[in-house]
Amino acid sequence: MSNNESIIVRSASSGSSSQRVTGEAKEKVVRVSNVSHTFYEGDPPTQVLFDNDLDLLRGELAIMTGRSGSGKTTLLTLIGGLRRVQEGSVTICDKELRGLDKDEMVKVRRRIGFIFQQHNLFDSLTARENVFMAMQLKREVSPASREHVDGLLRRLALGQRLEFRPAELSGGQRQRVAIVRAVVNEPDLILADEPTASLDDAATRDVIELLKELRERTGCAILVVTHDDRILHAADRAIRMKGGRIVSDLNTRQVLEITSFLRNYKLFREFSAAQMTNIVREVAYERHPAGTVIIRRGDPGDKFYVIKSGQVIVTDKEGSSADRAPIQLGPGDYFGEVALLTKKPRNASVVATEQVELYSLDKDEFDAALGRSETFEEELRRVAYERQ
Ligand SMILES: Nc1ncnc2c1ncn2[C@@H]1O[C@H](COP(=O)(O)OP(=O)(O)OP(=O)(O)O)[C@@H](O)[C@H]1O
Ligand SMILES: [Mg+2]
Repeated sequence: MSNNESIIVRSASSGSSSQRVTGEAKEKVVRVSNVSHTFYEGDPPTQVLFDNDLDLLRGELAIMTGRSGSGKTTLLTLIGGLRRVQEGSVTICDKELRGLDKDEMVKVRRRIGFIFQQHNLFDSLTARENVFMAMQLKREVSPASREHVDGLLRRLALGQRLEFRPAELSGGQRQRVAIVRAVVNEPDLILADEPTASLDDAATRDVIELLKELRERTGCAILVVTHDDRILHAADRAIRMKGGRIVSDLNTRQVLEITSFLRNYKLFREFSAAQMTNIVREVAYERHPAGTVIIRRGDPGDKFYVIKSGQVIVTDKEGSSADRAPIQLGPGDYFGEVALLTKKPRNASVVATEQVELYSLDKDEFDAALGRSETFEEELRRVAYERQ
């Protein structure tokens, strides 16, 4: 990347993958490119996915979040070969799913462990037999594999429930049987949709440990749709969907780094850990060389900025005399809030006087953050007023 050109890192497609520290080139277990999807069942047809790109490497554990209806399950089912790819391409371990016939699709699906919201256990089979079934589909059954199944069930605190049928198990216990069933064949890829939603803290910890261990031992890739903050720390990446698009794809190191940077400022201190994580996932990183006009007076307000490093000047300010010295801002200062708060065009220009690194937040996310914290709004209004 040359030094004299501005960069903005936001989504997977715009280059956060180039920031990911992945070491040697690892095999791509999942490759999604330009994937869109429309449901034609309804009237009128609705497009719910728009041009998504996503790579998952061997050994990666990624979590995916996003509001209800943002398209997470739809994308997951496309990746899992449970839904036909209409537009774009999905490959699993280099096998293109688009256009595969039924038999070939079944083969691909066998490489994937699914943990879905409806766990579809067989009612007439015990916990042990349900897992065993999945295993028999793939391997020869031996005493060792029987031991393996029981061992996994015990790991998730189901040792006392091996002979129970689904109707005799709690929702959380059924969920754990489904998890064991998904991992028992050591798949290349695990796709999970809210796997820990009905589990208490201890059970959630056990599931996370099991997934992490499996990833380390077998090198599988894991994609988990979740709103569960308890999983975030175990993940390598946090992917966020909004309105059918992947809008951010950060590695966890970046999330923690940005969080601890923003926490230094009073402005962000009041947010809970979960709120902060949501804000940070929406943050884009920008780097601009000296002389870049970051904000131009008269333009509509679209973003809010926090300076990570470097200096900018606020200049050409509405109603201020030409001989007044421009305001200088440096690391930790923020700007761009006035137009967003007043919903009026930019009232000044902001120019980088040296190379600057910035974190920026889009208007929508800025508004959402305002709604979540009174202090955030108060503090911004105070600063905006002082700058008038
Ligand atoms: N079979 C279907 N027919 C028509 N529309 C559908 C169908 N399945 C999902 N949708 C629509 O597609 C959009 C995305 O749904 P999806 O289930 O992928 O969302 P989600 O992000 O998983 O939400 P949640 O967090 O509530 O599970 C929604 O607006 C939903 O109404
Ligand atoms: Mg869903």
